[in-house]
Amino acid sequence: MRFVDIINKKREKQPLTTEEIQFWIDGYVKNEIPDYQVSALCMAIVLNGMEPREISDLTKAMMNSGEVMDLSSIEGIKIDKHSTGGVGDKTSLALMPMVSSCGAKVAKMSGRGLGHTGGTLDKLESIQNFNIFLDDDAFAKQVNDISIAIIGQTAQLVPADKKLYALRDVTGTVQSIPLIASSIMSKKLASGADTILLDVKYGDGAFMHTPEEAIELAKTMIQIGKDCGRDTRAMITDMNQPLGHAIGNALEVKEAIDTLKGQGPKDFTELCYTAGSIILQQAKIVNDEASAREMLEKAVEDGRALNKLKEMVQAQGGCVDQIDHPERLPQAKMVVEMRAHKNGYLDQVKALALGTLAMKLGAGRATKEDPINYAVGIVLNKKVGDSIQEGDIIAYVHTDEELSTEWIKEFYETFLILPEPVSREPLIYQIL
Ligand code: URA
Repeated sequence: MRFVDIINKKREKQPLTTEEIQFWIDGYVKNEIPDYQVSALCMAIVLNGMEPREISDLTKAMMNSGEVMDLSSIEGIKIDKHSTGGVGDKTSLALMPMVSSCGAKVAKMSGRGLGHTGGTLDKLESIQNFNIFLDDDAFAKQVNDISIAIIGQTAQLVPADKKLYALRDVTGTVQSIPLIASSIMSKKLASGADTILLDVKYGDGAFMHTPEEAIELAKTMIQIGKDCGRDTRAMITDMNQPLGHAIGNALEVKEAIDTLKGQGPKDFTELCYTAGSIILQQAKIVNDEASAREMLEKAVEDGRALNKLKEMVQAQGGCVDQIDHPERLPQAKMVVEMRAHKNGYLDQVKALALGTLAMKLGAGRATKEDPINYAVGIVLNKKVGDSIQEGDIIAYVHTDEELSTEWIKEFYETFLILPEPVSREPLIYQIL
């Protein structure tokens, strides 16, 4: 087989065979096919797409390019959840303990953040000594013992995606539903869980800009899950403004703790209960939405959900005292009150721009090697639809350094205040 023939075929809008896709992934991982040829093929896929069968073949070839987790030593149905990424998205920190406290088995592998979106691992590591490196046996034992473990993806998981994603990032080939779907699903499938809930986000702070694009991506991933025998469902959710109030690692851990105490922001709490209801049904713990919700609300009310987070932190060597006393999590040197300059109604809080501003404070990485400052970030005091009086605090900025004039200017540009009342879009657009 010659790789140039495969590129030509896709350029002419023809489907690739299973063997051609396998040849591509095998050859690329072994460094037998150069980056320039693979980037030409990726661009042909961006422009001409792939059929469902090709997407499934690509996902399977990528999944099998490295280690595939065997979770069979863990009893019961293992659940997993994936968010396509957003600003202030601390869902796993609250949702996973919630569903685990209701009996679901959480054996979760998470990633780090890059750019304007945060990663679950970075958030967990803002808890002193929290260990995200467990070997396979310790991981399985912890899930069997306490029903929950969240660890980092091993370097051996889907090496094809590591190479391909780095290449796509610099060749203008990220924006493609077949390539995004196979990238995400190959990692989820290799992580070994029986059920997958996808939170596919759309809007300013997400990969997909419209609900329609997000639905198409979700349907593509659900089909891949089905083809691989995994119960896969999806929520389509809004990421035009940050989720909840907090952006920044320790600040988001605190917000997750508040939510587990029943004192979280309304939108974030609603997302956790909706996602939790789907997961408890996937785990066959209940078979209807109403019972699932009741179960989750009860676990929050009687403290079991928060206790489950503490059990996980304890088991993974983290400082439980910081969960009991979130004020002992890393704290920034100063908290600056940002006040509104006019009266009106908040029409927009641009998620992408705010995530980027939080990154500039040190909360995220511009490159993979950058260190993270766990303490810094932004806490919103107003959300879209709220009425605002001049002088009201719209957000608190947790920072270690004086804010520059340019940072402050950019900050105010992310908030659009209109004179007339504005409607709030629902956070959850659709469930598939
Ligand atoms: N997230 C992934 O893991 N892969 C993509 O291609 C896009 C988002």
